[in-house]
Amino acid sequence: MNKLKQYLEDSRQMVDKELDRLLPKPVGLEESVCDAMRYSVFAGGKRIRPILLLAANKLCEGDSKQALPAACALEMVHTYSLIHDDLPAIDNGQLRRGKPTTHKKFNEAVAILAGDALLTLAFETLARCPEAFVAQLVYELATAAGTTGMIGGQVADIEWTGRGMEYPTLEFIHSHKTGALITAAIRMGAILAKADETALKSLTGYGRCLGLAFQIADDILDVESSSALTGKDSGADAALGKATYPRLFGVSESRQRCLGLIDQAKKHLADFGARADLLEGIADMVGNRTA
Ligand code: IPE
Ligand code: IPE
Ligand code: MG
Ligand code: MG
Ligand code: MG
Repeated sequence: MNKLKQYLEDSRQMVDKELDRLLPKPVGLEESVCDAMRYSVFAGGKRIRPILLLAANKLCEGDSKQALPAACALEMVHTYSLIHDDLPAIDNGQLRRGKPTTHKKFNEAVAILAGDALLTLAFETLARCPEAFVAQLVYELATAAGTTGMIGGQVADIEWTGRGMEYPTLEFIHSHKTGALITAAIRMGAILAKADETALKSLTGYGRCLGLAFQIADDILDVESSSALTGKDSGADAALGKATYPRLFGVSESRQRCLGLIDQAKKHLADFGARADLLEGIADMVGNRTA
């Protein structure tokens, strides 16, 4: 196994073990919502956001044990966003991470509450981080998840469904609904390692390019891949009339734009030299992903 693959595998295992420790056990009258939280979190995500947090932390010479709870908090917010994204009122998804979506497996009310509970638990988890970092981490995650980030992108995504749009609107949607949490992953990892302003600025640039590229790749996979590979409904964006890169530019130009952003992302790492090999490798992986 090469170094990157080994790092991804080891990080994934660490994150999953910590998530298991942090998520509530399904007992008592709240059992169903705890079951739904665990079902969604452990359905098998790629864990790219916590991995990015840990990799940025490592690059800035942080302590990965100290960064692990924040990495899990980010995955909780991401999983909540997927549960709500799949609801009938949003994308009406049937399949997620290779399994029936949370509202299909349980019911809509439990799915909504499981999402709410994951979002809340994320901030409880951050509150338990070393005191010197708590306020900054809460600020990063809240601004990336709320109306200035993911929610802002999601509401624009819904409101521009089925309508023609200009490029700035599409870029807004993608950089907010997906880019914001990916940028926060990188920044939170760097903050936990007490990175200086210059490093933080370069890493933020990397995160922004990577986050937008990630959603362009997601749009392309929706057109070109299969449910068997992605573990979610394919062809859903065109069926719903979503604002996507392939719709505005076609698949081939979308791919060029995605790869262009991956190059830009890697340029932001130049000052780190060979120490940035993991983040470079992850960027290439996002540019070439098939699932
Ligand atoms: C899917 O994210 C939703 C987007 C923001 C594109 P991922 O592709 O990271 O999904 P999981 O976590 O691996 O299931
Ligand atoms: C969703 O974008 C981004 C989120 C905030 C969840 P998509 O709607 O394209 O994500 P998928 O394709 O359902 O995973
Ligand atoms: Mg969506
Ligand atoms: Mg969706
Ligand atoms: Mg998609």
